[in-house]
Amino acid sequence: NMLQDLAGQHWVITAGPTMEAIDPVRYISNHSSGKMGYALAAAAQARGANVTLISGPVKISVPNDVHIIPVKSADEMLAACETVMTLQADVFIGAAAVADFKMKAACDQKMKKQTNSDELTLTLVKNPDIIATLASKQLARCIIGFAAETQNVMDYAKDKLARKGLDMIIANDVSRTDIGFNSDENQVTVITKDTTWQPEKAAKADLAVSLVDYIGSHYHKTC
Ligand code: C5P
Repeated sequence: NMLQDLAGQHWVITAGPTMEAIDPVRYISNHSSGKMGYALAAAAQARGANVTLISGPVKISVPNDVHIIPVKSADEMLAACETVMTLQADVFIGAAAVADFKMKAACDQKMKKQTNSDELTLTLVKNPDIIATLASKQLARCIIGFAAETQNVMDYAKDKLARKGLDMIIANDVSRTDIGFNSDENQVTVITKDTTWQPEKAAKADLAVSLVDYIGSHYHKTC
Protein backbone atom coordinates (compact mmCIF):
# COMPACT_ATOMS: atom_id res chain seq x y z
CA ASN A 1 0.00 0.00 0.00
CA MET A 2 2.13 2.83 -1.38
CA LEU A 3 2.03 6.47 -0.43
CA GLN A 4 -0.33 8.18 -2.90
CA ASP A 5 1.56 11.49 -2.80
CA LEU A 6 1.39 11.99 -6.58
CA ALA A 7 -2.41 11.79 -6.69
CA GLY A 8 -3.85 14.54 -8.89
CA GLN A 9 -0.65 14.89 -10.93
CA HIS A 10 -0.45 14.03 -14.63
CA TRP A 11 2.86 12.43 -15.64
CA VAL A 12 3.62 11.88 -19.33
CA ILE A 13 6.43 9.48 -20.21
CA THR A 14 7.86 8.50 -23.62
CA ALA A 15 9.53 5.12 -24.00
CA GLY A 16 11.03 2.69 -26.46
CA PRO A 17 12.50 3.31 -29.89
CA THR A 18 10.87 5.15 -32.75
CA MET A 19 10.40 3.39 -36.06
CA GLU A 20 10.91 5.48 -39.19
CA ALA A 21 9.44 4.04 -42.38
CA ILE A 22 11.66 3.64 -45.43
CA ASP A 23 8.82 2.09 -47.42
CA PRO A 24 5.73 0.02 -46.41
CA VAL A 25 7.88 -2.97 -45.36
CA ARG A 26 11.17 -1.46 -44.15
CA TYR A 27 12.21 0.91 -41.41
CA ILE A 28 15.03 2.60 -39.47
CA SER A 29 15.02 2.00 -35.72
CA ASN A 30 17.23 1.12 -32.74
CA HIS A 31 17.55 -1.49 -29.98
CA SER A 32 15.82 0.43 -27.16
CA SER A 33 13.83 -2.06 -25.04
CA GLY A 34 11.53 0.49 -23.37
CA LYS A 35 12.26 -1.06 -19.96
CA MET A 36 13.34 2.15 -18.20
CA GLY A 37 10.36 4.21 -19.39
CA TYR A 38 7.88 1.45 -18.56
CA ALA A 39 9.41 1.03 -15.09
CA LEU A 40 9.13 4.80 -14.49
CA ALA A 41 5.47 4.70 -15.60
CA ALA A 42 4.73 1.85 -13.18
CA ALA A 43 6.54 3.61 -10.32
CA ALA A 44 4.72 6.92 -10.85
CA GLN A 45 1.36 5.13 -11.15
CA ALA A 46 2.03 3.26 -7.90
CA ARG A 47 2.44 6.63 -6.15
CA GLY A 48 -0.96 7.77 -7.37
CA ALA A 49 -0.06 9.76 -10.50
CA ASN A 50 -2.28 9.70 -13.56
CA VAL A 51 0.26 8.34 -16.06
CA THR A 52 0.22 8.53 -19.87
CA LEU A 53 2.87 6.37 -21.55
CA ILE A 54 3.59 7.25 -25.18
CA SER A 55 5.51 4.31 -26.52
CA GLY A 56 7.30 3.23 -29.67
CA PRO A 57 7.12 -0.46 -30.63
CA VAL A 58 8.39 -2.65 -27.75
CA LYS A 59 7.92 -6.24 -26.57
CA ILE A 60 7.07 -5.61 -22.91
CA SER A 61 3.68 -5.37 -21.25
CA VAL A 62 1.98 -2.16 -20.18
CA PRO A 63 1.88 -1.58 -16.40
CA ASN A 64 -1.58 -1.76 -14.81
CA ASP A 65 -3.67 1.42 -14.86
CA VAL A 66 -1.26 3.28 -17.12
CA HIS A 67 -2.82 4.97 -20.16
CA ILE A 68 -0.87 3.76 -23.19
CA ILE A 69 -0.61 5.55 -26.53
CA PRO A 70 1.27 3.40 -29.03
CA VAL A 71 3.14 5.30 -31.75
CA LYS A 72 5.70 4.46 -34.41
CA SER A 73 7.57 7.49 -35.74
CA ALA A 74 9.06 10.50 -33.95
CA ASP A 75 6.52 12.74 -35.71
CA GLU A 76 3.68 10.62 -34.28
CA MET A 77 5.33 10.65 -30.84
CA LEU A 78 5.58 14.45 -30.86
CA ALA A 79 1.97 14.83 -32.03
CA ALA A 80 0.75 12.47 -29.28
CA CYS A 81 2.73 14.40 -26.64
CA GLU A 82 1.25 17.72 -27.76
CA THR A 83 -2.27 16.26 -27.75
CA VAL A 84 -2.09 14.78 -24.25
CA MET A 85 -0.49 17.93 -22.82
CA THR A 86 -3.03 20.43 -24.17
CA LEU A 87 -3.58 21.02 -20.49
CA GLN A 88 -0.08 21.49 -19.00
CA ALA A 89 1.17 18.23 -17.47
CA ASP A 90 2.98 18.16 -14.13
CA VAL A 91 5.93 16.03 -15.20
CA PHE A 92 7.23 14.93 -18.60
CA ILE A 93 9.97 12.30 -18.81
CA GLY A 94 11.53 11.64 -22.21
CA ALA A 95 12.84 8.09 -21.89
CA ALA A 96 12.31 7.26 -25.57
CA ALA A 97 15.28 6.60 -27.84
CA VAL A 98 14.06 8.82 -30.65
CA ALA A 99 15.66 8.15 -34.05
CA ASP A 100 17.78 11.15 -34.98
CA PHE A 101 16.83 10.91 -38.65
CA LYS A 102 13.91 9.91 -40.82
CA MET A 103 13.51 9.49 -44.58
CA LYS A 104 13.23 12.80 -46.41
CA ALA A 105 10.37 11.12 -48.29
CA ALA A 106 9.31 7.57 -47.34
CA CYS A 107 8.30 5.52 -50.39
CA ASP A 108 4.59 4.74 -50.83
CA GLN A 109 5.40 1.43 -52.50
CA LYS A 110 7.96 -1.24 -51.67
CA MET A 111 11.28 -0.16 -53.16
CA LYS A 112 12.41 -2.39 -55.99
CA LYS A 113 15.87 -3.92 -55.95
CA GLN A 114 17.96 -1.98 -58.46
CA THR A 115 19.66 -4.35 -60.86
CA ASN A 116 21.94 -1.75 -62.39
CA SER A 117 23.82 -0.66 -59.24
CA ASP A 118 25.45 -2.14 -56.11
CA GLU A 119 24.75 1.03 -54.15
CA LEU A 120 21.64 2.63 -52.76
CA THR A 121 21.49 6.13 -51.35
CA LEU A 122 18.74 7.12 -48.94
CA THR A 123 18.27 10.80 -48.13
CA LEU A 124 17.52 11.37 -44.46
CA VAL A 125 16.45 14.52 -42.65
CA LYS A 126 16.58 15.36 -38.94
CA ASN A 127 13.64 14.34 -36.78
CA PRO A 128 12.09 16.99 -34.53
CA ASP A 129 13.63 17.12 -31.06
CA ILE A 130 10.53 16.11 -29.10
CA ILE A 131 11.65 17.07 -25.60
CA ALA A 132 13.17 20.40 -26.70
CA THR A 133 9.92 21.27 -28.48
CA LEU A 134 7.83 20.44 -25.40
CA ALA A 135 10.22 22.42 -23.20
CA SER A 136 10.09 25.50 -25.42
CA LYS A 137 6.28 25.36 -25.30
CA GLN A 138 6.30 24.67 -21.51
CA LEU A 139 3.88 21.78 -22.04
CA ALA A 140 4.86 20.28 -18.70
CA ARG A 141 5.86 22.04 -15.51
CA CYS A 142 8.84 19.75 -14.99
CA ILE A 143 10.68 18.36 -18.01
CA ILE A 144 13.16 15.53 -17.55
CA GLY A 145 15.39 14.00 -20.20
CA PHE A 146 17.81 11.11 -20.48
CA ALA A 147 21.36 11.38 -21.78
CA ALA A 148 22.94 8.15 -22.96
CA GLU A 149 26.62 8.87 -23.51
CA THR A 150 29.75 6.84 -24.17
CA GLN A 151 32.26 9.49 -23.02
CA ASN A 152 32.41 12.77 -21.06
CA VAL A 153 29.04 11.75 -19.60
CA MET A 154 28.66 14.66 -17.15
CA ASP A 155 29.79 17.39 -19.57
CA TYR A 156 27.56 16.24 -22.40
CA ALA A 157 24.61 15.79 -20.02
CA LYS A 158 24.99 19.31 -18.58
CA ASP A 159 25.21 20.71 -22.09
CA LYS A 160 22.01 18.84 -23.04
CA LEU A 161 20.21 20.12 -19.93
CA ALA A 162 20.91 23.72 -20.93
CA ARG A 163 20.54 23.37 -24.70
CA LYS A 164 17.18 21.57 -24.56
CA GLY A 165 15.82 23.73 -21.73
CA LEU A 166 15.26 20.82 -19.32
CA ASP A 167 14.76 20.87 -15.56
CA MET A 168 16.55 17.60 -14.92
CA ILE A 169 18.62 15.11 -16.88
CA ILE A 170 19.26 11.46 -16.09
CA ALA A 171 22.66 10.53 -17.50
CA ASN A 172 24.07 7.09 -18.06
CA ASP A 173 27.20 5.61 -19.59
CA VAL A 174 26.07 3.30 -22.41
CA SER A 175 29.61 2.16 -23.18
CA ARG A 176 29.26 -0.15 -20.15
CA THR A 177 27.72 -3.49 -21.13
CA ASP A 178 26.40 -4.22 -17.62
CA ILE A 179 23.96 -1.28 -17.67
CA GLY A 180 21.70 0.70 -19.98
CA PHE A 181 19.87 -0.18 -23.19
CA ASN A 182 18.80 -3.85 -23.19
CA SER A 183 20.17 -4.54 -19.72
CA ASP A 184 17.88 -5.10 -16.72
CA GLU A 185 20.13 -2.94 -14.57
CA ASN A 186 21.07 0.69 -14.78
CA GLN A 187 23.30 3.22 -13.06
CA VAL A 188 22.60 6.88 -13.59
CA THR A 189 23.53 10.35 -12.44
CA VAL A 190 20.68 12.80 -11.97
CA ILE A 191 21.61 16.37 -12.79
CA THR A 192 19.72 19.62 -12.28
CA LYS A 193 20.97 23.21 -12.65
CA ASP A 194 22.55 23.08 -9.23
CA THR A 195 22.50 19.51 -7.93
CA THR A 196 23.85 16.09 -8.86
CA TRP A 197 22.79 12.80 -7.33
CA GLN A 198 24.03 9.29 -8.04
CA PRO A 199 21.83 6.46 -6.77
CA GLU A 200 23.38 2.97 -6.52
CA LYS A 201 23.37 0.70 -9.55
CA ALA A 202 20.10 -1.22 -9.39
CA ALA A 203 17.51 -3.18 -11.32
CA LYS A 204 15.61 -0.77 -13.59
CA ALA A 205 12.37 -1.35 -11.65
CA ASP A 206 14.03 -0.43 -8.32
CA LEU A 207 15.91 2.48 -9.84
CA ALA A 208 12.62 3.79 -11.28
CA VAL A 209 11.12 3.83 -7.77
CA SER A 210 14.10 5.89 -6.48
CA LEU A 211 13.95 8.25 -9.46
CA VAL A 212 10.21 8.87 -9.07
CA ASP A 213 10.79 9.48 -5.37
CA TYR A 214 13.58 11.96 -6.14
CA ILE A 215 11.57 13.75 -8.85
CA GLY A 216 8.52 13.92 -6.57
CA SER A 217 10.54 15.48 -3.77
CA HIS A 218 12.52 17.92 -5.98
CA TYR A 219 9.52 18.94 -8.04
CA HIS A 220 8.80 22.15 -6.14
CA LYS A 221 12.45 23.19 -5.73
CA THR A 222 13.67 22.45 -9.25
CA CYS A 223 10.71 22.92 -11.58
O1 C5P B 1 20.01 14.42 -27.96
P1 C5P B 1 19.85 13.11 -27.29
O2 C5P B 1 19.13 12.09 -28.13
O3 C5P B 1 21.07 12.54 -26.67
O4 C5P B 1 18.91 13.50 -26.05
C1 C5P B 1 18.30 12.53 -25.29
C2 C5P B 1 17.03 13.08 -24.68
O5 C5P B 1 16.28 13.84 -25.64
C3 C5P B 1 16.12 11.95 -24.26
O6 C5P B 1 15.36 12.41 -23.17
C4 C5P B 1 15.27 11.74 -25.52
O7 C5P B 1 14.04 11.12 -25.22
C5 C5P B 1 15.09 13.16 -26.01
N1 C5P B 1 14.97 13.29 -27.48
C6 C5P B 1 13.76 13.71 -28.04
N2 C5P B 1 13.66 13.88 -29.40
C7 C5P B 1 14.70 13.64 -30.20
C8 C5P B 1 15.93 13.21 -29.65
C9 C5P B 1 16.02 13.04 -28.29
O8 C5P B 1 12.80 13.95 -27.30
N3 C5P B 1 14.57 13.80 -31.51
